[in-house]
Amino acid sequence: MPLHTAGQTQIYTFPDTAALSQGLDKYVARLSEEGIKRHGKFAIALSGGSLPKQLSAILKDNPSVDFSKWIVYFADERCVPLDHEDSNYLLAKKELFDFVNIPEENIHTINPELIHNPEEAAEDYISQLAATFATKDSVRFPVFDLILLGVGPDGHTCSLFPGHELLQETVDWCAAITDSPKPPPRRITFTFPVVNHAHHVAFVAAGEGKQDMLHRILDTHGDLPAQLVKPVTGTLSWFVDDAAAAKITSTTHKGLERL
Ligand code: 6PG
Repeated sequence: MPLHTAGQTQIYTFPDTAALSQGLDKYVARLSEEGIKRHGKFAIALSGGSLPKQLSAILKDNPSVDFSKWIVYFADERCVPLDHEDSNYLLAKKELFDFVNIPEENIHTINPELIHNPEEAAEDYISQLAATFATKDSVRFPVFDLILLGVGPDGHTCSLFPGHELLQETVDWCAAITDSPKPPPRRITFTFPVVNHAHHVAFVAAGEGKQDMLHRILDTHGDLPAQLVKPVTGTLSWFVDDAAAAKITSTTHKGLERL
């Protein structure tokens, strides 16, 4: 049974971050199994921030997940070496990749040789996406099984910031940004066309500091980056702890009972 149908947003709440990780484990394990059954692999994109830790806490020890079939991209990445403390890859490696058997060639990082030229790094990432999603004789639009997103206190997601011209991007799958208000300033990021074509998109947000922004994103209409995440045919879910959910007035579900 699908969790919900396209067009709806489901908000799952959890008493604390430990429970949230439990919910994420269940959700991701199920989608991974579905993806592998459907097309022999599971294409997932990760974000930075608190997400890798929250995601991996329980999932990394889940024996039912066939990580050997995972194909991993980053919804956004900072233009820094892969062993730099700001690297989203390094964070995900420390939290997840070091514990599970995702084949190295299935983990798609920013090309470390191009980090001094964000435009070229974004172009290169587009080529990687094209190669992953191509069929035998044609280039196909990237359709991820799951894209996991975080949200900033200003409503940004990926490295798509409020009022930035990249919010209008309709052609390029991945773009460079050199003036990110959240440091470091130089990054590459998926654009909305890719985010909104995923089968499933899920936001993960925790902590009191997210209360006001979550209320704004989920209970009002607007054009904050997180509000522009509207999967065309896919599903949209939110995984939030009670602290972050305190001011949400839209319908929420207790994640531990629903998932
Ligand atoms: C990044 C992230 C960014 C992040 C949000 C939320 O590389 O900076 O991908 O989009 O997901 O800023 O971060 P927190 O989860 O730390 O609040």
